[in-house]
Amino acid sequence: MTSEIFIIGGARPNFMKIAPLIAEFKKERIDFKLIHTGQHYDYNMSKIFFDNLGISKPDFFLNVGSGSHAVQTAKIMIEFEKVILKEKPKLVIVVGDVNSTIACALVAKKLFIEVAHIEAGLRSFDLKMPEEINRKLTDQIADYLFITEESALNNLEKEGIDLNQVFFVGNVMIDNLIRNLEKAKQNGYYKNLNLENKSYGLITIHRPSNVDNREDLQKVIEILNYIQNQIKIVFPVHPRTQKNIEKYNLGEEINKPNILLTEPLGYLEFLNLMVNAKFILTDSGGIQEEASYLDIPILTLRNNTERPITIEKGTNELVGNDIDKIKKYIDMILSNSYKNGQSIEKWDGKTAQRIVKIIIDKII
Ligand code: UD1
Repeated sequence: MTSEIFIIGGARPNFMKIAPLIAEFKKERIDFKLIHTGQHYDYNMSKIFFDNLGISKPDFFLNVGSGSHAVQTAKIMIEFEKVILKEKPKLVIVVGDVNSTIACALVAKKLFIEVAHIEAGLRSFDLKMPEEINRKLTDQIADYLFITEESALNNLEKEGIDLNQVFFVGNVMIDNLIRNLEKAKQNGYYKNLNLENKSYGLITIHRPSNVDNREDLQKVIEILNYIQNQIKIVFPVHPRTQKNIEKYNLGEEINKPNILLTEPLGYLEFLNLMVNAKFILTDSGGIQEEASYLDIPILTLRNNTERPITIEKGTNELVGNDIDKIKKYIDMILSNSYKNGQSIEKWDGKTAQRIVKIIIDKII
């Protein structure tokens, strides 16, 4: 029997968003099929999340791998079209803003299949970010737009989206965090790295704007060097960052006793490191939200964020690559005078439940 619902996952930040949805569909005994595009494929960028989060094996694996944006997006479209033509689902659910999101939305829509976009409406207003292009285009063709924060509503309204299609449901990634928090706290991973609670900063850097050219990457390393003189840092290195550190021969410059480099980590290990960190320095989107929920200071190495609620109510500040700003905030964090986070509307662990209810009521 064909399933009426397809759920798409492709890259690391998708997997923590689809896990709570899958659990909810199972709870409601609604049949679905899971499609993994293979945009991310290394064990520690993909399968470890399926294992950590109890996501079952995908029904279809498209095996597209890496490539330029055009190559990767096109390969996903070609492979996904074959599956969709055979299976004819009624609804395709895409999450986030990666290449798999826009590629699958586009294929579905051109075959007159409805599309739901989870985490719709976020805007950095920076079209140099590939994700911003993916978000805007996906939202233009999606039939159902599920949003995480109020700013998304204003953005979508300005772009001419019919607000009857928009549903303010909260944040599925926070559902996932809530579901896994106790398990992550108990796994004690930070102790395996010989770290003490609140005695280190946690770093993640992978955006092309920070790591793809030598000058930007050098600047980031300069920042890390300043921080490691103040406090120990743990830095799980993303494959894009690793490749560029090697390409520009910068390995020696981050080889410092106070910088602990690791491979990309699984969900539970990383969450354990987050919970026990004194602060986080990142250029990720999702981590701005997770740290805000956990009330852990987070400095974002970007000049904009598509998630403004994390600054307004959460623990986030934008620091670009401005070393003076970073020094100021690190001083505040280390002297415990940095701002505290407040609770954020509908980030309560019930978002997947709200989404599935809407899907049952309105779509299937
Ligand atoms: C992608 C997403 C980005 C997300 C990030 C999280 C897009 C446009 N970008 O960026 O939004 O924040 O994932 O990780 O969809 N590589 C591996 N192993 C893998 C995957 C990639 O070694 O499993 C290598 C690739 O060869 C490539 C580099 O990592 O050189 C970057 O991968 P790519 O998928 O192009 O983009 P990300 O930077 O991961």
